[in-house]
Amino acid sequence: MLDLRTARVAFLGFGNMASAMADGFIRSGILSAGQLGAASRRQDVLAERTASRGMKAFATCEDAARWADIVIIAVKPHLVAEVVSPIKAVLKDKLVLSVAVNKLFDDLEGVLEAGTRHLSTLPNTPVSVCEGIVICEERHSLTSDDEAAVRALFGALGLCLFVPAKIMPSAGTLSGCGPAFAAMFIEALADGAVKHGVPRAAAYQLASQMLAGTAKLQLATGQHPGVMKDAVCSPGGTTIIGVAALEKAGMRSAVIEAIDAIVSR
Ligand SMILES: NC(=O)c1ccc[n+]([C@@H]2O[C@H](COP(=O)([O-])OP(=O)(O)OC[C@H]3O[C@@H](n4cnc5c(N)ncnc54)[C@H](OP(=O)(O)O)[C@@H]3O)[C@@H](O)[C@H]2O)c1
Repeated sequence: MLDLRTARVAFLGFGNMASAMADGFIRSGILSAGQLGAASRRQDVLAERTASRGMKAFATCEDAARWADIVIIAVKPHLVAEVVSPIKAVLKDKLVLSVAVNKLFDDLEGVLEAGTRHLSTLPNTPVSVCEGIVICEERHSLTSDDEAAVRALFGALGLCLFVPAKIMPSAGTLSGCGPAFAAMFIEALADGAVKHGVPRAAAYQLASQMLAGTAKLQLATGQHPGVMKDAVCSPGGTTIIGVAALEKAGMRSAVIEAIDAIVSR
C-alpha cells in the first residue's frame, strides 16, 4: 500500500503544469521536495527548475519512472505515446497519472501495458497555491488504496473531483481555461478602476481579493450566484447600474460562447 509520507513521485515532462503541481505538493506539505523528481527534454532547463525546488532531476524518463512509485505524465498530449511506449514495461508496476488534455482511460489503455494502474486527470494552474482543481476520470484501473492516495494527494492541491469521461472536456474547459478568463476579468476590473484614478497595483490587489472573496463566500455558503448578486444590488442603487451595463455588453453570453468555442473545437 502506498504511503504518501515516503512515496516517490516523478513527472515525465516538467513544464508549466508539472511545476505548478510540484509547487502545490511542497507548499501543502503533503510531499517533501526530496520525494519529487522529474525528467524532461532540455537538461539545462530541467536542472534549473528542479534544483530551485530541491527536487531530483533524471537524465531520462525511464530513470525517473524506475525511481518513482507514482509517475505523472506531463508532456503535451501529442507526445504521450512517444514518451510512454518505450517505458511501458517499467510503468506496469507504478501508479500512473496523466494530466494530458483529452487523453482519457481508453487512450491510456492503448499505450500502457494491460493491467497498469492508471488514471486520467485535468489539473489547473492554481494548484501551485493549493487553491486549484484536479478533475479525475471516474473510470480508472487504480486499486481502492491507490484511489485513496490520489484523493489525498490531489485534495492537498485544492478540489479533487471524479467525473464521467463524457463531461471531462467541458468540466476541464471550465477549470483549466477558466483561470485565463478570470485573469481577464481581474484585468478589466482593474482597468476600470485605474481609469478613475486608482493606482495600478492597488487596482489588481482589489480586483483579485474581491474575486477570491466572492468565490470563497459562494463555496462556503453554497448560495446561488444570482442570490449573491441580488444581495449587492439595492433598489435604485449603484450596483444594478453596473449589472445592467454588463448585461447590455453581453457578458454572460460572451462567457458561455467562450466555453462553447473550446468544447466544440
Ligand atoms: N498548462 C495548463 O494549464 C494545463 C491544464 C491542464 C492540463 N495540462 C496538460 O499538461 C501537459 C503539459 O502542459 P504544459 O502546459 O505544462 O506544457 P509545457 O510547459 O510545454 O511542458 C511540457 C514539458 O514536456 C517536456 N517534454 C517535451 N518533449 C519531451 C520528451 N520527449 N520527453 C520528456 N519530456 C518532454 C518539455 O521539456 P522542454 O521544455 O525541455 O521541451 C516540458 O518540460 C499537457 O499534456 C497539457 O495538456 C496543462
